[in-house]
Amino acid sequence: MIHVITKANRHLYERQLEEHFRIRYDIYVVERKWMALDRPDRREVDQFDTDDAIYLLALEGDRVVGGTRFVPTLRPHLMSEVFPHLASVAGLQRGPDIVEWTRIFAVPSKRGSDSKTFHMVLAGMMEFCLDEGINFITVVMETWWLPRFLDLKLRARPLGLPEQVEDMLVVATIIEVSEETLTAVKALKNIEGSVLVRRGLNGWALPDYSQERRYA
Ligand code: COA
Repeated sequence: MIHVITKANRHLYERQLEEHFRIRYDIYVVERKWMALDRPDRREVDQFDTDDAIYLLALEGDRVVGGTRFVPTLRPHLMSEVFPHLASVAGLQRGPDIVEWTRIFAVPSKRGSDSKTFHMVLAGMMEFCLDEGINFITVVMETWWLPRFLDLKLRARPLGLPEQVEDMLVVATIIEVSEETLTAVKALKNIEGSVLVRRGLNGWALPDYSQERRYA
């Protein structure tokens, strides 16, 4: 199942969150060689792992097998702070109903056609957004996702032109949240029912921005 973790319930998941930062190090630094993320403590933590981050972790028993991160776009996020130029055609997309998606992973033993971890995380993302009234997801992603999005029935459009970043071709993209995508993703792996666990969470996971000055 996919566990929703925010600042409101992270005290229930400190061990799993710590495991997830170490898995992120093994995947992004050791495996993918994103050396800018290297740290001596072998935890992959960046400036967007703040109280505003929302983690969706795939847990099997007590073990982390996959996950991803959302950051509200009204808060500083990767596209606004590091890659705003990638959105130069359509402009940065920010709002209370838009979150930024980063750091999706499945541990190596849970990847490939025999595994459903990736699809569970993706279904969890869509279900979470539908529950929370989030209509769009933005992402700075490598272009190899584009053909995968077609298979997954993800409706996406670019916000700018692709650009080479180190050895990767990346593009800023906005994805529409839809019931159809959730249904399609679940059907691909025969996933039934809700995939989300909201242990210790009462009410919405996203902050109420109504009293705050907007960043955008
Ligand atoms: N470069 C290019 N294509 C990739 C890729 C990469 N780094 N990673 C995955 N793909 C594409 C390929 O088409 C691949 O099929 P192939 O192995 O036949 O070429 C397909 O996605 C399926 O990937 P796979 O790894 O078998 O498994 P999955 O669908 O179960 O899981 C991920 C997908 C992304 C969750 C998993 O590959 C992963 O955790 N990768 C490391 C973390 C990562 O790079 N995340 C994305 C950036 S945040």
